[in-house]
Amino acid sequence: MTFKPIKNICCIGAGYVGGPTMAVIAQKCPDIKVNVVDVNAQRIASWNDENLDNLPIYEPGLKEVISETRGKNLFFSTEIEKAIEEAEMIFISVNTPTKTYGKGKGMAADLKYVELCARKIAEVAKSDKIIVEKSTLPVRTAQAIKSILDNVGTGVKYHILSNPEFLAEGTAINDLHNSDRVLIGGDHTTPEGQAAMDALTHIYERWLPSERILQTNLWSSELSKLTANAFLAQRVSSINSISALCEATGANVEEVAQAIGSDSRIGDKFLKASVGFGGSCFQKDILNLVYICRSLNLKEVADYWEQVIIMNDYQKYRFADNIISTLYNTVTDKKITFFGWAFKKDTNDTRESAAIYVADYLLEDRANIFVYDPKVKTEQIYMDIDNMNTRSEQENRNSLFVINDPYKASKDAHAIAILTEWDEFKTYDWQIIYDQMKKPAFIFDGRNIIDSKKLADIGFKVYQIGKTV
Ligand code: UDX
Ligand code: UDX
Repeated sequence: MTFKPIKNICCIGAGYVGGPTMAVIAQKCPDIKVNVVDVNAQRIASWNDENLDNLPIYEPGLKEVISETRGKNLFFSTEIEKAIEEAEMIFISVNTPTKTYGKGKGMAADLKYVELCARKIAEVAKSDKIIVEKSTLPVRTAQAIKSILDNVGTGVKYHILSNPEFLAEGTAINDLHNSDRVLIGGDHTTPEGQAAMDALTHIYERWLPSERILQTNLWSSELSKLTANAFLAQRVSSINSISALCEATGANVEEVAQAIGSDSRIGDKFLKASVGFGGSCFQKDILNLVYICRSLNLKEVADYWEQVIIMNDYQKYRFADNIISTLYNTVTDKKITFFGWAFKKDTNDTRESAAIYVADYLLEDRANIFVYDPKVKTEQIYMDIDNMNTRSEQENRNSLFVINDPYKASKDAHAIAILTEWDEFKTYDWQIIYDQMKKPAFIFDGRNIIDSKKLADIGFKVYQIGKTV
């Protein structure tokens, strides 16, 4: 059986993954109509905003792709049912957060949105569909989706594929244009299953060389996504663990990273010591892996991966703790300025950002925190700190302030903490900042981006991760 070229795609979920991925598919396949739908009407309105600076997510290069495709073959709407009905291929790209209740609370992925999507598709589909899991899911979820779809008795045939995304925020468009690999999991064993995989392969082949498109069985594909994120996060936790040892011994973590990274077996990527990894994926996916292993009675395997999270938590609290102990064991009523709130540069995403945890810890010691981030909105910062549920919303507003100018944010500060590696922080006039701070003026660089010698020469007391400056 050969595949039929796809002419109409629908994507449920217009988030950080669905939005950019569909925009690039629309750009590279002008003959395919791509409908991106979402239950969140406000988000859809932002995707449709005339002013491209108001798109709901900030991602370098995204504006350009949207302006090229929107209204031509890329459409954003809330008409989920209509888009499902029209489509030959449906991507599920809704969020799958860690469960906050019931069985598997704090560990397992919450699949309720994915299940809702499957049920909605089952309810409205009148013709055969290829369903593509884009959301990161536990192994064997495709099976669950299939069982929901196959048991509605409408006679419609469904082929389920797993096509995990490997894009990193901040470089999403480039990652989509030049993917190292695309993974397509499906059922090789039937001609229909193979045809569905080939139909999706054909889409990616429009702009990627065939050898980068890997076909696997469904479960290998699902598990590869979790494993890829676990390996990446493990590298960050590994180097962060060594950063603590460097600080205790006088070794320099950057020199160590360079030395080990030059070994081609190790490689030089993902060895940047930091205040701790964040983002919507690393922690969630590892917790998921740990939960699956526990459920399968693989205790040692679960414990092994859980340690990556434990090390990351340690790194965040170690950084916060160092601020308190350096500021003479108290930050009560002191002004601490945060440069950066996003979980990494070039994104307005703050999910699991280390900044949230460091702020929460310092607020417990009654610090006054003044946050400046070039892209994150004030409401988001308050939502993040309120979601920690450590104190009342009013208390958070009495001691955490968001300021849209870095110089104003750092006036009269006792200390500056750099939480995100935004490039603009390197170009500030640090002499002006120093002159207007309380003395001694401390700077805690959680990303090792500033020129520590230059700042020390100005007079700053500088602390960086894994170094004794
Ligand atoms: C993605 C993936 O899908 C997730 O599995 C991965 O691990 C992290 O990244 P992301 O695009 O970042 O999620 O999530 P988000 O920005 O929250 O977007 C999801 C969208 O789905 C939201 O706009 C939400 O409104 C929408 N949604 C959710 C629906 O349209 N229907 C639902 O039933 C649930
Ligand atoms: C990650 C994966 O890279 C991507 O393939 C997957 O699809 C989704 O999850 P993302 O979370 O967007 O992408 O960002 P990533 O660049 O991986 O960074 C994750 C976190 O690790 C960030 O907080 C980053 O600052 C931190 N990090 C990364 C380090 O602290 N040191 C490093 O060397 C690299």
